[in-house]
Amino acid sequence: MSSQRLDRIRLSGDVPRHVAVIMDGNGRWARQRSLPRQLGHREGMESVRETIEGAIEVGMDVLTLFAFSTENWNRPQREVSALMSLLQRYARKEPDELKRQGVEVHVLGDLDRIDNRTRRAVETIVEGTAGGSELRLNLMISYGGREEIIRSARILTERVARGELLPEEIDDEVLSSTLFTAGLPDPDLLIRTSGEYRLSNFMLWQLAYTELHISPVLWPDFDRESLFEAVLDYQRRERRFGRVEAT
Ligand code: FPP
Repeated sequence: MSSQRLDRIRLSGDVPRHVAVIMDGNGRWARQRSLPRQLGHREGMESVRETIEGAIEVGMDVLTLFAFSTENWNRPQREVSALMSLLQRYARKEPDELKRQGVEVHVLGDLDRIDNRTRRAVETIVEGTAGGSELRLNLMISYGGREEIIRSARILTERVARGELLPEEIDDEVLSSTLFTAGLPDPDLLIRTSGEYRLSNFMLWQLAYTELHISPVLWPDFDRESLFEAVLDYQRRERRFGRVEAT
């Protein structure tokens, strides 16, 4: 499908390699329609499909989606179960299509906390899409940014205790190599939907220099065009990484 926005993105050529998304607003979308919150999440799955398609069309390398946070465990049990069922359904249904698209799925987070059924389903999607080379898709599940940094601190202190690493050898690169996202570029662009200006414990280390795009659109209404709009906004930014403007 042709899109004027996509044409403009391609003309500019400055494509973000890694885009991360906080998918927010499913509950509000459902409430506006007097529907149960779960139906908002279900509708949000279609936006996930659209966003993956759009990411491939734009030519990104990595797309990272915040699907379930460590804080989300505190939601009512019924909603947690509904979200886990949705993940299972997605993980069982989608591998063939994702494989055809060349998407390689990775699931990142504290997976020890998820139930066996969901874990098995998640393994199915990871194994079924291994080797895809068009797009790497990170699904962040049971993920928290602070928890990830604490995990890194533990990994590094254990290495120091074993005598494999000196404290002064710990730098940006060494710490990055212990994160779930080891080996990946940091996100160039973070999109948060539903107009909220918060990071909500998402990728706290990796987002240090990331451009932010806050979209007013509720996640279930987010589509390819909304993604293209965010990328165009990114292309209008001048990224300086703390340096002064080039002369
Ligand atoms: C935030 O909306 C969204 C979530 C907590 C879950 C995100 C899950 C999906 C989009 C569907 C499943 C995803 C995959 C990858 C299969 P909210 O409930 O916080 O909305 P609200 O702020 O309006 O209440």
